[in-house]
Order: sequence, then C-alpha cells, then structure tokens
Amino acid sequence: MQVTVRGLASGRLTFVAYEKEDLQKDLLHFLLEKGITIASSCDGEGVCKKCGIQNGWLTCQVTLGEFLERQPDSVIDVSYL
Ligand code: FES
Repeated sequence: MQVTVRGLASGRLTFVAYEKEDLQKDLLHFLLEKGITIASSCDGEGVCKKCGIQNGWLTCQVTLGEFLERQPDSVIDVSYL
C-alpha cells in the first residue's frame, strides 16, 4: 500500500509505502518518518498552519487513515515541494 506525495512546485511525485499500523499516525509525523519534508514550527499542535495540504487540511490534524478515507486517490498535494 502506498500514498503519493505530489510536489506542486517541482512537479515531482514521491511514492511512500505504508503499513496497516501507520493508519493511526497523524499524517505529519508519518510523512516526516518517511523522510518527506513537511513544514512545521509547532510540532503538530495545530497552531502554525504550515503543515497544510490540499483542501485546507492540516497534516498534523488528520491521521493517515482519515486522509485515505477523504482522498481515495491517495495523492497528497504539497504546494512548496
Ligand atoms: S504543524 Fe503546526 S499546524 Fe500543523
């Protein structure tokens, strides 16, 4: 199973594998663990709003599982990547 990180600035696609146990992790920390650079200055407190992706979602406020339910194509759009 995998998600795709689409960098809107570069046009680059990065494919990131996940396991069932990753579904409960917040998307911010899941992506950081996988080496994807997601901006954050509040470490997931929901304050800085720098970790945003498409549809106004904050990666620190949604689990990977919730994201996949809302975004069936599994593509994460990051504007500054
Ligand atoms: S990391 Fe600051 S709002 Fe998400």
